[in-house]
Amino acid sequence: MDGKQTTQNISTILTEVNTLLSRPMDTKAVLCCPLIPLTNMTLVTWEIILEDKPACKLSYRRDTNETRETNCTDKRITWAFRPDQNPDLQIDPVAITHEGYYECIMAASDGNFHRRYHLQVLVPPEMTLFLHKNRTAVCKAVAGRPAAWISWSPEGDCVTEQEYWGNGTVTVWSSCRWSHSNVSAVTCSVLHLTGNKSLFIELLPGTKTSVKLYILYLILPIILIVVGSIWFLKISGYRKCELKKTEAPPVVEEDEMQPYASYTEKNNPLYDTTNRVKMSQVLQSEADGVGLHTV
Ligand SMILES: *[C@@H]1O[C@H](CO)[C@@H](O)[C@H](O)[C@H]1NC(C)=O
Ligand SMILES: *[C@@H]1O[C@H](CO)[C@@H](O)[C@H](O)[C@H]1NC(C)=O
Ligand SMILES: *[C@@H]1O[C@H](CO)[C@@H](O)[C@H](O)[C@H]1NC(C)=O
Ligand SMILES: *[C@@H]1O[C@H](CO)[C@@H](O)[C@H](O)[C@H]1NC(C)=O
Ligand SMILES: *[C@@H]1O[C@H](CO)[C@@H](O)[C@H](O)[C@H]1NC(C)=O
Ligand SMILES: *[C@@H]1O[C@H](CO)[C@@H](O)[C@H](O)[C@H]1NC(C)=O
Repeated sequence: MDGKQTTQNISTILTEVNTLLSRPMDTKAVLCCPLIPLTNMTLVTWEIILEDKPACKLSYRRDTNETRETNCTDKRITWAFRPDQNPDLQIDPVAITHEGYYECIMAASDGNFHRRYHLQVLVPPEMTLFLHKNRTAVCKAVAGRPAAWISWSPEGDCVTEQEYWGNGTVTVWSSCRWSHSNVSAVTCSVLHLTGNKSLFIELLPGTKTSVKLYILYLILPIILIVVGSIWFLKISGYRKCELKKTEAPPVVEEDEMQPYASYTEKNNPLYDTTNRVKMSQVLQSEADGVGLHTV
């Protein structure tokens, strides 16, 4: 129930937010109230809405000179000064869990005054750059908040990924390859709200890999095409043989079915056998002729 209420509050406040405040983690943040003469002020209230927590309220009543706290368990969130002199709020040190909505409401003789903030907590990422292979470099922005942006000079053939940690930070890494041998050194830049950083690394010559890749990308397809064509030709040749074989058996049956011989001769030609018969007859006559000559 509380969780639901909190998210509802956040969404209604979201539309009213008028100041985005970005503060690095582990620093001190001071949030100011509306600038009105304190002598007019009768009551000041800070309403703090953080994720997964009931709303916390800090208030100060001028007539009784009393401060009150409701559901404020975080000792790092306090009045910045004595509230009768300055009603500003302080967070010291700022943690990721302090990201959320803060509103100062001042009741004065001439009306109510509001000032709202959305606090964004920044964590600078740790930057690393190293060679993975001779022509591949990896650049990492580890555990930053929000996610860092990585760019390369010159631009390579890159893959970029993000990994979210349970504590609200993000690791971004980018792995790039430069196949052109004219690129001998590269620069990685990590762009982040906490500041930009750049590192430089020299690539190693990758002659062996490029020769290997040449073989892989150029020669291999040619071999595949040649082998494929041979295989295809073989397959189609084999099919023709198979067709002949399946036609052959009836020929054997014909010999046994003498009465239908004349019919089958027309229908399912026994040209092979008839030819053979004719051929043998011709050979016979030729042999006879030869015999005649020899005789
Ligand atoms: C309010 O109370 C504080 C102590 O809590 C005291 O130091 C301060 O003088 C008081 N201010 C007034 C205006 O009475
Ligand atoms: C304080 O928190 C409790 C739950 O933890 C909630 O029931 C209550 O309404 C909260 N009080 C205020 C004033 O927000
Ligand atoms: C968050 O978690 C990562 C991974 O465990 C760790 O490297 C990093 O220091 C943590 N950052 C914070 C701010 O807790
Ligand atoms: C490297 O060569 C490529 C193509 O040959 C060219 O487009 C590129 O500009 C060259 N880069 C450098 C740093 O000379
Ligand atoms: C980081 O670099 C970006 C792009 O070049 C620039 O817009 C931004 O102002 C820089 N940020 C800081 C903190 O220097
Ligand atoms: C990487 O570079 C080194 C040093 O120039 C070289 O000896 C090695 O053969 C290279 N490796 C590949 C895979 O190209």
